[in-house]
Amino acid sequence: MIRNNGHGEEQWDAILERLQGLGRPGLPGGVPERSRPRSGGRQAGSQTEPDGSNCPDRLDELNGLDPLNGLDDRDVLHGLNGSEDRDVLHGMNGSEDRDELNGPEGLKGLDHANFLADRKLTEIYLPLVQTTALVIAQLGQTLDGRIATRTGHSHFVTGPEDIRHLHRLRALVDAVVVGAGTVVADDPQLTVRKVRGVNPVRVVLDPSGRVSPQARLFRDRSAPTLWIRSPRAPAIRASKPVEGLILDEETPGQGFRPADVITLLAERGLHRILVEGGGITVSRFLAAGVLDRFHLTVAPLLLGSGRGSVTLAPVDTLDRALRPQCRHFALGRDMLFDLCLRP
Ligand SMILES: NC(=O)c1ccc[n+]([C@@H]2O[C@H](COP(=O)([O-])OP(=O)(O)OC[C@H]3O[C@@H](n4cnc5c(N)ncnc54)[C@H](OP(=O)(O)O)[C@@H]3O)[C@@H](O)[C@H]2O)c1
Repeated sequence: MIRNNGHGEEQWDAILERLQGLGRPGLPGGVPERSRPRSGGRQAGSQTEPDGSNCPDRLDELNGLDPLNGLDDRDVLHGLNGSEDRDVLHGMNGSEDRDELNGPEGLKGLDHANFLADRKLTEIYLPLVQTTALVIAQLGQTLDGRIATRTGHSHFVTGPEDIRHLHRLRALVDAVVVGAGTVVADDPQLTVRKVRGVNPVRVVLDPSGRVSPQARLFRDRSAPTLWIRSPRAPAIRASKPVEGLILDEETPGQGFRPADVITLLAERGLHRILVEGGGITVSRFLAAGVLDRFHLTVAPLLLGSGRGSVTLAPVDTLDRALRPQCRHFALGRDMLFDLCLRP
């Protein structure tokens, strides 16, 4: 059984090592390979789960795929006997089977915390390191579906556990994509700071060229940065690690096809992509059907106004709604919904 600091950090390193096995430098100091195209990568949407599903939702299946640090040890599961922490347990899909939880003895104190943290990390992140290519989106929204106030203030809609989760997602991808609106509103860094991991390439979708060259991610040199613009945007002069790229829009003024963005990144060896926001950008990727997964965290907060989360074309009846396979995990006071969009 593993021992750690109660936050699952040893388990996190095991996940990063697994990522490294896929060809991405997961651990700081790893060989930077992300700019080299990999053989065996796939176009967005193909599946590499051994069981043919991209959405394993039971710990048993995950353990069967790739046990990390002994988490396939059924004796460890028996240690959950007597746990009263239903909040944590509710966050672990498949754990509500009391038979699985019953056992002869209970784990106490730090052992118990370690076990829960490790198990949760495995359940959330192991599916993300089973594939060489991945397109995942994330958003943190209020109960009433807002990601920021009307002035664009969004720090922070969700709590520290979700922010840590966001940094973990960044650490697991080759590239993090944001829309021009997010760069203008937040002046973000998009780096991995809250957990161990390597910064992804930063990608800004800015078809009209409205983002200032003074934006922090164009100046801080902390990671390679791609500034994707359309032919109608004013010319820029960029120098490494910032690179300006021109991409044709579907029709001028209508924005890039998300599939074209993914292809452009794949041509540069960037096969694992996090679409980090904001709502317009994530909605376009979702509507285009190019997302494998969507991590949507809901915070117990009501705004009643502000920037919207997901917006899709209207449907008249509920049978037309998207009803993806879903797992959920408690992240502090927030709830992460892990939506699997490619069953
Ligand atoms: N809570 C969260 O999780 C979260 C995450 C990120 C951001 N935010 C907040 O969300 C707000 C910004 O979100 P937002 O929805 O207003 O804007 P956004 O999604 O950040 O940016 C939208 C803009 O990006 C460009 N863009 C995005 N996808 C494109 C595509 N496929 N093709 C061409 N251009 C594309 C377009 O720029 P043009 O308009 O120039 O055409 C588009 O209008 C900010 O207030 C930020 O703080 C919250």
